[in-house]
Amino acid sequence: MYDIKKAAVIGAGTMGLGIAGQLANAGVDVLLLDIPADGDNRNAHAERAIERLLDENQPGLTHKDNLSRITIGNVEDDLDKLADADWIAEAIVERLEVKKTLYKKIDAVRKAGSIVSSNTSTIPISLLVDDMPVEFRSEFAITHFFNPVRVMRLLEIVRGENTKAEVIECLEAFNEARMGKGIVICNDTPGFLGNRVGVFAIQTALHLAFEMGLSPEEADAIFGRPMGIPKTGVFGLYDLIGIDLMSDVAKSLVSILPGDDVFHEVSTEIPVMVKMIGEGHTGNKGTKGGFYRSVDGSNNRETLDFAGFSYRDFDENKPQVAIEAELAGDFTRLFATDDKYGQYAWEILSRTLCYAANLVPDVNESLVAVDDAMKLGYNWLQGPMEMIDAIGVDNFIARLELEGRDVPAFVKTAAGKSFYRVDGGVLQYLLADGSYTDLRRADGVTRFSETRRTIVPILENAVASYFELPNQIGLVEWHSKANTLDGNSMALLQDAVAHASENFRGLIIHNDAQHFSCGVNLEGVLTFIRNADWAGLDQFLNHFQQTVMAMRYSPIPVVAAPSGLSLGGGFEVVLHADKAVLHANSVTGLVESLVGVVPGGGGVKEMLYRWSEREGDVVKGAWQAFMNVGYGRTARSPLEAEPLAMFRNGVDSYVMNRDRLLDTAIDVAQEMSDNYSTERRQPLAMPGRDVWDEMVEWLKKAQSKGHLTPHDVTTGSQIAMIVSGGDVDAGVTMTEEEICGLERKAFLTLAKTAETRARVEHMLNHGSPLRN
Ligand code: NAI
Repeated sequence: MYDIKKAAVIGAGTMGLGIAGQLANAGVDVLLLDIPADGDNRNAHAERAIERLLDENQPGLTHKDNLSRITIGNVEDDLDKLADADWIAEAIVERLEVKKTLYKKIDAVRKAGSIVSSNTSTIPISLLVDDMPVEFRSEFAITHFFNPVRVMRLLEIVRGENTKAEVIECLEAFNEARMGKGIVICNDTPGFLGNRVGVFAIQTALHLAFEMGLSPEEADAIFGRPMGIPKTGVFGLYDLIGIDLMSDVAKSLVSILPGDDVFHEVSTEIPVMVKMIGEGHTGNKGTKGGFYRSVDGSNNRETLDFAGFSYRDFDENKPQVAIEAELAGDFTRLFATDDKYGQYAWEILSRTLCYAANLVPDVNESLVAVDDAMKLGYNWLQGPMEMIDAIGVDNFIARLELEGRDVPAFVKTAAGKSFYRVDGGVLQYLLADGSYTDLRRADGVTRFSETRRTIVPILENAVASYFELPNQIGLVEWHSKANTLDGNSMALLQDAVAHASENFRGLIIHNDAQHFSCGVNLEGVLTFIRNADWAGLDQFLNHFQQTVMAMRYSPIPVVAAPSGLSLGGGFEVVLHADKAVLHANSVTGLVESLVGVVPGGGGVKEMLYRWSEREGDVVKGAWQAFMNVGYGRTARSPLEAEPLAMFRNGVDSYVMNRDRLLDTAIDVAQEMSDNYSTERRQPLAMPGRDVWDEMVEWLKKAQSKGHLTPHDVTTGSQIAMIVSGGDVDAGVTMTEEEICGLERKAFLTLAKTAETRARVEHMLNHGSPLRN
């Protein structure tokens, strides 16, 4: 009965514009209203929001054309237009009376059968609608999005006492498939789940750091990547969100929690921070810096010294235990030692995990909801219960008991067991009564990180694994750090292609990590360069090229299903798949030129073929490939990738929810496998040496105007050499293998230069390209 075709968002602030933007990304027409502004332009507030949606640094839209789906207005002149909306999402200031007044106005104009929801973080649903008619209450819910809405995967939905089940079902189905969210259904309790646990963890990390006298660098080195949580850590996160704002969030959350909640212990004001806020040190948004500040807008940072209240150099030295735990991907190593770092890690985690465990079953019946809230809302790699499983439930209990601390009842229930288990090939989780139940996701939703727990790989090495999925589909998963690719990643892919070609109907390349692949492992490239091992480097590239070619011409369909970043070598693999299924936020690009090399895994060749087909002309195609690869262009969505020939309409596809990538890829592979045949491409008649010369001329001109560095010209000339065919007459034909040979030649030429070596080293040391 409920169906969302048109939507309205009220409140064009941070959250409202994010929700409106994501609705537009989902293909839904949306009306965005704010209060009328003073002056002639009464829609000025909403207009400003639109500008923020187009922010280059953090675009809220998957394509700027989506803006045409958003109509703006104000709540005085345009209120009656709400009558068209099937879903009215309120995202105005967090003030109960203001929200209540608005609901009355909405109710006067909304159509019967429309759904109204609030984005409130802290106000219970019972208070929001207590004086509204029952019809309104039956169609009202809380839909709590996270900021930024396009990026954050979590949506908490809260059902009120009178909310109809169909309303919740509609919101759940729509937001999961169309808005791309992982839904957690929450009870009407303070802070729901994500913020309740997330802010508690942050506050605990903050208070303990001050109590234990850890510097911001030390604290962030522990409470960050090594724990499987974002690298901003605690002080970095405070700076990012705003020290004043974050302090307010903590205060408002604690004000709604019962007096005996241990959250109160970590919510007291910290004198240094009161002083910081008073003096305007509120974090990245201000000019005075926060716990850290950047030096002249560069990547170099300084840290606030609390004693002298002045900035000092950022201390790059990380505690060894943090480095080791991060490298091993094992947070339990952090507290294997008893020094201050070990104690800090254990104290934060043990308190947070106990806090989270105490929420089951009263705040939420399902531990999966708690884990999902932290993974999708706070980007933790593992949820709290998964972390206790990793520690070992009995180990966890033993240490708590040794320290004379209370063991949460739900943890006691798990004694001698684990929170998750695999039974009969099915992943199950523990209920509060001690029994297990199957972990079921919505139809079409599968996380490979969960599936992989229930199956055994056919092939495996340190960086990659190969599995059999149902219906004779194989799957290759990479699992190195940032999924960078080395010889072993490619060796496994090659073996998997051979095995699947013999035994299966299709092959999928996918993983459930943050990033599909950040490209070839530059450490490995640098080792070849340092050893001047040119034969070894050539062999590595050749092996890469042969692997992707074997994939491309295998007798079965190969589908790549990447989420997050697919850059450089990672994207070259995607380019060689028969079809790609992308996520709406997938980032793609051949960025090799930024480190002074060229794509050497068939990427330039693929772009040359694609552009030549698009342009219907190899010279025009060569120019397009030259420009796009030369500038290392990236796209932040499939819609942006399409005009760059990195996404093919009608061949590739994309989904809004990354949890739907795998099932969609399986469907695509199965569909293709029915009548699959593969045909080798015809050799290309290359543009030849004159076009190469023209491109070099173009580069030199750009350099003379100051647009390019000398090394850009060197790199660009090599890209030009590949796409033109090098020193050959126009029209000389080349096979794909021959063009791949030119890529290797160009790569080696550049690798031998001191500038390229410096660029690769810079990228490895700083994580950003050297620009000079
Ligand atoms: P904001 O302050 O950025 O934006 C609020 C907007 O509502 C402003 O543009 C304001 O002019 C407008 N507004 C105020 N009264 C209005 C009225 N009567 N009619 C129409 N527009 C009105 O606030 P933000 O951060 O976007 O928060 C909105 C809601 O979302 C709040 O309930 C907040 O608790 C919640 N929330 C905020 C999150 C965040 O990270 N900022 C995260 C999750 C929820």
